[in-house]
Amino acid sequence: MRSSWFSKLSLILGPRPPLNWLLLCLISILVLIALLGSSSSSTFDSITSNLKPDTYTNYRRLKEQTTDYLELKSLSVGTVGLSELPFCGKERENYVPCYNVTANLLAGYDNGDEFDRHCDVSRDQQYCLVHPPKDYKIPLRWPTGKDVIWSGNVKISKDQFLSSGSMTKRLMLLEENQIAFHSEDRALNDDVKDYSHQIAEMIGLRSDSDFFQAGVQNVLDIGCGFGSFGAHLLSRNVMATCIAAYEASGSQVQLALERGLPAIIGNFISRQLPFPSLSFDMVHCAQCGIIWEEKDGIFLIEVDRILKPGGYFVLTSPSTKPHANSLSAKRASMLSPIQGFAERLCWKLVTQEDETFMWQKTIDPLCYSSRKSNDIPVCKGNSDAQSYYQPLLPCLSGNNRRWIPVQNKSSATSLSINDLQVHGVVPEEFLEDHQNWRTMTRDFWSLLTPLIFSDHPKRPGDEDPLPPYNMIRNVMDMNAHFGSFNAAVLDAQKSVWVMNVVPVGARNTLPLLFDQGFTGVFHDWCEPFPTYPRTYDMLHANGLLSHIISERCSLTNLFLEMDRILRPEGWVIIIDKTRLIEKARYLATQVRFEARVIDLQNGSDQRILLCQKQFLRR
Ligand SMILES: *[C@@H]1O[C@H](CO)[C@@H](O)[C@H](O)[C@H]1NC(C)=O
Ligand SMILES: *[C@@H]1O[C@H](CO)[C@@H](O)[C@H](O)[C@H]1NC(C)=O
Ligand SMILES: *[C@@H]1O[C@H](CO)[C@@H](O)[C@H](O)[C@H]1NC(C)=O
Repeated sequence: MRSSWFSKLSLILGPRPPLNWLLLCLISILVLIALLGSSSSSTFDSITSNLKPDTYTNYRRLKEQTTDYLELKSLSVGTVGLSELPFCGKERENYVPCYNVTANLLAGYDNGDEFDRHCDVSRDQQYCLVHPPKDYKIPLRWPTGKDVIWSGNVKISKDQFLSSGSMTKRLMLLEENQIAFHSEDRALNDDVKDYSHQIAEMIGLRSDSDFFQAGVQNVLDIGCGFGSFGAHLLSRNVMATCIAAYEASGSQVQLALERGLPAIIGNFISRQLPFPSLSFDMVHCAQCGIIWEEKDGIFLIEVDRILKPGGYFVLTSPSTKPHANSLSAKRASMLSPIQGFAERLCWKLVTQEDETFMWQKTIDPLCYSSRKSNDIPVCKGNSDAQSYYQPLLPCLSGNNRRWIPVQNKSSATSLSINDLQVHGVVPEEFLEDHQNWRTMTRDFWSLLTPLIFSDHPKRPGDEDPLPPYNMIRNVMDMNAHFGSFNAAVLDAQKSVWVMNVVPVGARNTLPLLFDQGFTGVFHDWCEPFPTYPRTYDMLHANGLLSHIISERCSLTNLFLEMDRILRPEGWVIIIDKTRLIEKARYLATQVRFEARVIDLQNGSDQRILLCQKQFLRR
């Protein structure tokens, strides 16, 4: 159409428009502009003169609002400045503090240690807000967002698309601005299903639907690709947490979280993972890039530490593939260096199929004393202590009172009185906490609507507003305690998963959280959280401010960090003492959150601060 229209036009004008024709055009355009300019300025004058009274009243109303606003602020902050913090530069769009390799090298870390987490090195005091990339879009809702993400939301290079060959790392470019994972492609999707089924059979299960019954409820997936195996396990009711090293581009953790799958940055380099001992029922590594036999097997010792008795270590790697199914090939792989360590760790090679090996940790604590006396020693002291990035230890953490084999776990979804006693928890206290949170969660979930910031905000317990719903998928409980918040949102059948954080220095309830089938980590909130910007839809912090104050670290840094990890339009729910909530409200305005204080109206000294991060474009 267009081309024919164009050719008609050129017919009229003739093939070569003469110069005076063009000049005429130019002059008439200039005249037109001049005419329009003068007429529009005169209409503008008449409009403003007509509207003068109105403008005035508008102005007055505006001024009233402003004073209101100022008073509101000065009430809570006194005379402190009201400045909103500036935005960081473009180079910080995907900024993860503590992982600055250049700075680490300068500080003298080497031998791979430069890729590890070093918060002391990159402690900078640049008070700025991390800005989303130019073409950032609010992620698609769950479950669509599991299979399709916006490519502008993550940092990934063209090369990484091309090299994404391995089973767990396949993705494809759909449209220009979308990345699709597996499900769009039947063949690839079946790969992961078959693989999961194969692992179930290797354990001796009929299918992967039986994982949960068999006690395999919590899996750590090291170097998870982009989380497709974990996504499949989640659909089988198994909690799978992805852990992978920091990657500046094409990050496994960033992409998994963008899809709405549990993931966290973590390294096998020189320090322990931020999990307690005896946490996971299965540790999985498919081409995860770790050379397990290195450093006297210290990485295998770390896997042993976090595995529960009777738990499985699954290793899939094409390099271990025997050339044929012959006896000699089998024997050769049995003699592989990893198997040598396995025996010293009291692990049993359950089976080997194709490229997949499976070992099982012993269920017998006496196994350790039956080994050669000069073998890897059992650690002295309390192996149940909080392992917050402690150096990797060349000893086995061995037995403690939580030594309950995976296979002995009850398949019931809730913990028994007996289980609670193992964790030193008074059952009544636990049940009451759960019940409280069920009520609380029901009440404040309905507050999660921009309506809350209007003149007629919703009150707790008001009926739910209309959608948007399912906008919330990645949730963090910054001070998880017994995990009652996690239990409550699951109970209410929200389609979310919760990263339960147990702050260093708080009561160590993390083992209890893992035993409920939840995921979590230890974290020191005086430091940045090991995740990418814009990875959580909701942050929940009950009593965290009180804890932070007692730890003497900066609330401003905490708010900057909350802003960094929160997605645009994400929510923050803070519950604390009124005095701290007032302070927090001020900080919330500094990081440009919409914020509202809500009275619990039960006569307590506690308030809720409900915030929403705005979607601000450059
Ligand atoms: C990383 O550290 C180097 C050297 O200290 C510094 O120049 C650079 O700005 C840092 N990068 C980021 C993203 O902070
Ligand atoms: C686990 O279960 C087996 C068989 O039911 C039982 O013999 C064993 O004592 C149990 N072990 C523990 C630590 O509860
Ligand atoms: C008020 O509610 C909060 C949150 O449920 C609770 O922690 C607190 O104990 C309650 N206070 C009173 C006095 O009931």
